[in-house]
Amino acid sequence: MKISFAKPGLSAKGALVVGVSEGKKLSASASELDRKTKGAITRAMSGSRFSGKAKQILSILAPAGIEASRIVLIGLGKAKGEMKPVDIEAMGGALVGELANSGVAEAAVAFDLPGEEGGNAAAHFALGAKLRSYRFDKYRTKEKAEDKPTLQRLAIHVEASRTAQRAYGELEQVGDAVFFARDLVSEPGNVLFPKSLAAQCKTLSALGVKVEILGVKEMTKLGMGALLGVGRGSTQESQLVVMQWQGDPKSKDKPLAFLGKGVTFDTGGISLKPAAGMEDMKWDMGGSAAVIGLMRALAGRKAKANVVGIVGLVENMPDGNAQRPGDVVKSMSGQTIEVNNTDAEGRLVLADALWYCQDRFKPRFMIDLATLTGAIIIALGHEFAGAFVTDDELADRLVASGKATGEGVWRMPLAESYDRGMDSDIADMKNSGSRDGGSCKAAMFMKRFTNDVPWAHLDIAGMAWSAKGNAVTPKGATAYGVRLLDHLVKAYYEPK
Ligand code: BES
Ligand code: MN
Ligand code: ZN
Repeated sequence: MKISFAKPGLSAKGALVVGVSEGKKLSASASELDRKTKGAITRAMSGSRFSGKAKQILSILAPAGIEASRIVLIGLGKAKGEMKPVDIEAMGGALVGELANSGVAEAAVAFDLPGEEGGNAAAHFALGAKLRSYRFDKYRTKEKAEDKPTLQRLAIHVEASRTAQRAYGELEQVGDAVFFARDLVSEPGNVLFPKSLAAQCKTLSALGVKVEILGVKEMTKLGMGALLGVGRGSTQESQLVVMQWQGDPKSKDKPLAFLGKGVTFDTGGISLKPAAGMEDMKWDMGGSAAVIGLMRALAGRKAKANVVGIVGLVENMPDGNAQRPGDVVKSMSGQTIEVNNTDAEGRLVLADALWYCQDRFKPRFMIDLATLTGAIIIALGHEFAGAFVTDDELADRLVASGKATGEGVWRMPLAESYDRGMDSDIADMKNSGSRDGGSCKAAMFMKRFTNDVPWAHLDIAGMAWSAKGNAVTPKGATAYGVRLLDHLVKAYYEPK
């Protein structure tokens, strides 16, 4: 879908989109169309439940008196001026949801909000529209024409069209990064495995990201026994990818570090998962996709920050070479781990990635994203990622970024009492405790590998994939984390 900005002035063959505030109050553009169509808008509203509540949508087909094939009313809610970017994005998304498969090829939106504020709002509307238009259809060879989306072009008419264009220039980079991450998460395990995912990371060098790839040889040298143990049962070689974006080369500040769990397929290993639903475990690399997408967003919009992204890429398979329940592995930190459950593999991967990260980069903080535990889905459902954070300021910033982007974050407890559940009789710790408080115990396990660097762990098991979708996300891969962390970096760690 192509998105463009233009000065006010509605004329289109396809859909004309105008706003109506709560209480059926027509915007200027809506009133003008109502006059031209001899009251079609007022009549349509009186025969429907549309009242102008936020995100409501009503299509009026073939109105007389104008060329357009339909008028679309969008509810603006109560106070137009108080609408936040995240609400405006949801409106853009809702519009695409209404029109994508409607038969309409082009739509023109009358954005009546004046001045710079209007321009910025229009850019966020465009981002929401773009995000909702995502599709992963490369493997469909027999899709019928009538099932394919029809909407091709979206023109947004707004007074400050130059401002809108400029603001969208940056947001579009973030949108492209979200699409990139969604593609990675959508790919099946036979196509996306550690080396092919590492190759995708490598493509970011075209944007100025420095990309290093460590294989089994390099990781063995570093002593990454925890990560390497997970990949042993796979024919696919494990990889650790280090991405660096130096957007602020003069700065002496320590870099920001983001880490992702990249289990390209999680069978559970010898502690094999049941068959039902196992196909979902292709998206057990959602944390790594978020980090890769974030690096792309930052480089794409030339963020003025120095950022490290590290992803641990492994495939967890059962095999003659696979690690056994009860095996003891030695992590890069020197701490030993009894692997009492080979399905608790994400924390093993991140244990070595976190240690390596703090050891090499001495970062200001580390934030990891991981589809780590089923238990976090029981606790929070699909509304929030669970955030385990050692630093209150960082926690507040993450929660605020979640509110600003609609990618929800809910703080969870880190407490020593959970940690005792991870003691082992044979090694320094075991990798899996009892089921109660499973997400908290997993977090406390990983904390042992942070070396007291300020740290946040986001358990995104409930967020990486959406069975129903929302206003700005079609069902499927969400790329949760890309917009959240891009916002975090922009709002708190870049010069204004
Ligand atoms: N990748 C899974 C967690 C998961 C489950 C993500 C469902 C998304 C949906 C993780 O590796 C795992 O298997 N965790 C186990 C841990 C347990 C063995 C301690 C779990 O949650 O059951
Ligand atoms: Mn697992
Ligand atoms: Zn897993």
